[in-house]
Amino acid sequence: MDFIIFLFTLLKVLLSTSVVGDPACRKTCGSLLVKYPFGTGCGCGSPRFYPYVTCNSDQLLLTTHTGSYPITSISYATSTVTITPPYMSTCNSMQQSPNLGLDWASPFQLGPSIIILLSCTPPTSSLIVKGSPVCDPSSSNLCASIYTCPSVVSLDLPLFPPTNSCCVYSPANFNAQGELDLRQLKCAGYTSIASLQDYPTDPSKWQYGVALKYTNGAFDDYYINNKCNTCEASGGVCGYAPRGNSFICACNGGFNSTTDCYNNQNQIIQDEDEYPGVIWSSTSLPTLKIVEFGSCYCIDSTIPFTVSRVVARRTRGGISNV
Ligand SMILES: *[C@@H]1O[C@H](CO)[C@@H](O)[C@H](O)[C@H]1NC(C)=O
Repeated sequence: MDFIIFLFTLLKVLLSTSVVGDPACRKTCGSLLVKYPFGTGCGCGSPRFYPYVTCNSDQLLLTTHTGSYPITSISYATSTVTITPPYMSTCNSMQQSPNLGLDWASPFQLGPSIIILLSCTPPTSSLIVKGSPVCDPSSSNLCASIYTCPSVVSLDLPLFPPTNSCCVYSPANFNAQGELDLRQLKCAGYTSIASLQDYPTDPSKWQYGVALKYTNGAFDDYYINNKCNTCEASGGVCGYAPRGNSFICACNGGFNSTTDCYNNQNQIIQDEDEYPGVIWSSTSLPTLKIVEFGSCYCIDSTIPFTVSRVVARRTRGGISNV
């Protein structure tokens, strides 16, 4: 059972990140500044954020059980990120959307955005989540505005908005599965407004996206935050090492330190044998060593490979064959 979860996690990592060995921790992903607790890969940032957050082809992504979502902004001051789900409707493009979900174990929760459910089976006053009605009719002005977007025709929406749209899903909430369950609510789509940008009646100027709050969690106590501030101030990137997720400061010179990058005194000398490795061999390719990083698995190899048929042998812990 444990192993199935392991395999699943590994596949998820393989599918969501480049298979070629991760470069050392980076300070940016595309145009986004990536600081603690976020990281650009395994061993970077806080172990609680990997593999939920990864940097993939210069795009920071949040991966959950319902999909992968581009992270378009991060506010470190307010501990908020904004994601833009690809099938979410905006003024420019209205479309049917699949459910949006967050993983319970991840450090993310729904934040303060304005969610409008589109094209629901009327009456929307009967939409119930956890026993309470969820549509706030007093915000129908927002729907009236969004119905001025020419793209509404693509959802076959009638001209009088409040009849079949939930003009502010409030308080926005996920169900027991951690999802905005459009299928259960019988709505075709949704839009989420991260900011009205001082133009409450001009939907073409709104900033669309789903705001999420994040919590640093157990690993990220005052002590780590303090260490991390010093590391970042010295030009380093905060990360963690395999053994017990202990703090590391990844420095520009390509070395890691237990403290900061001001000098080389606390440099960590990498010793291969120190790592609790898992040996995987595929039927057609050479053996790959996978370094197990607590909650994440890094592929310690520069050989790209495809996961067609993986035969696994775990060197420690009793798994022999799959
Ligand atoms: C430094 O730490 C990062 C993140 O844990 C890791 O990817 C990298 O291989 C380490 N570099 C060295 C030289 O040990």
